Amino acid sequence: MPTFRDMLIDTEDALIRADVFFGHGYDSAHDEAVALVLTAADRSPTGTGAEILEVEYPEHARQRLDEFVSKRCVARLPLAYITQVAWLGPLCFKSDARALVPRSPVASLIMSDFAPWYSGPSPAVIVDVCCGGGSLGMLAKTAYPAALVVLSDLDGDALSLAQENREDHPVDGVVQADLLSWCAGESVDIILANPPYVDAEHMQDLPAEYLHEPGLALDGGDDGLDLVSLLLWDAARILKPEGLLVLEVGYSVAALENLSEDLVPLWVELEHGGEGVAIFMAQDLAQWAAKQGVS
Ligand SMILES: C[S@@+](CC[C@H](N)C(=O)[O-])C[C@H]1O[C@@H](n2cnc3c(N)ncnc32)[C@H](O)[C@@H]1O
Repeated sequence: MPTFRDMLIDTEDALIRADVFFGHGYDSAHDEAVALVLTAADRSPTGTGAEILEVEYPEHARQRLDEFVSKRCVARLPLAYITQVAWLGPLCFKSDARALVPRSPVASLIMSDFAPWYSGPSPAVIVDVCCGGGSLGMLAKTAYPAALVVLSDLDGDALSLAQENREDHPVDGVVQADLLSWCAGESVDIILANPPYVDAEHMQDLPAEYLHEPGLALDGGDDGLDLVSLLLWDAARILKPEGLLVLEVGYSVAALENLSEDLVPLWVELEHGGEGVAIFMAQDLAQWAAKQGVS
């Protein structure tokens, strides 16, 4: 009778042979295989020790595991859409095709108190714009329970998932709106923004796993910055003077650098390497906006 170890080896092999793409939170066939084998057997990946490896794999879980492997290797679903959960930092979120799979590196900044970038008093108002299923805002609420934390997105499907996640991770509000049109001037301490930023060239070339995610969550127009430019104007208007915009742009770093010579993004050194998260101070944004002829 096969054990958990046997199923793990077979599943890892299947993922490697199918050459699946890892871009949704897990970075190896081994880690994805562990999640698939345990979830199919209704075991939690947290709280299960190595002793399970020699245990017989339950008969009833085998067919479920076959279906999982087929969804991952043939249909190329991201793992989180199969297991229906995704972890970001210490929190577990429901995840399905209504919203992008949570994986933003902005999480590590939230968990390190935005150091060394934020120097104001403990933030009173935090907005997670383009919130998708709500992971960043919900993480911010756990880090700053006294702050008013409000999430917004244009997409009603994404917001329905955020509302479900809100049951486990409460926040103060969830708003359906275009970018930050709903926020009053100088009212926000910290804006968290992971907008769609994939440029037209990369959109043509996305690994199949990404095609299961909502197009509205990925497509950033020709240079990837269609929404980013608008967001910068919104941020200049609504941030308090000591406020901060935390903006993820992924590989549209060069495009953001070239957007305006008056705009100087401060690039965050990310925990797992690479670039793609910029900080903008409110006062720098206000000066930039003023130079463009609008304040
Ligand atoms: C890259 S996803 C980020 C989701 C989430 N913040 C995360 O990190 O997993 C971008 C999100 O922006 C939303 N979006 C696209 N256009 C928008 C707009 N004009 N106003 C507000 N949200 C928008 C999409 O619906 C999508 O949920």
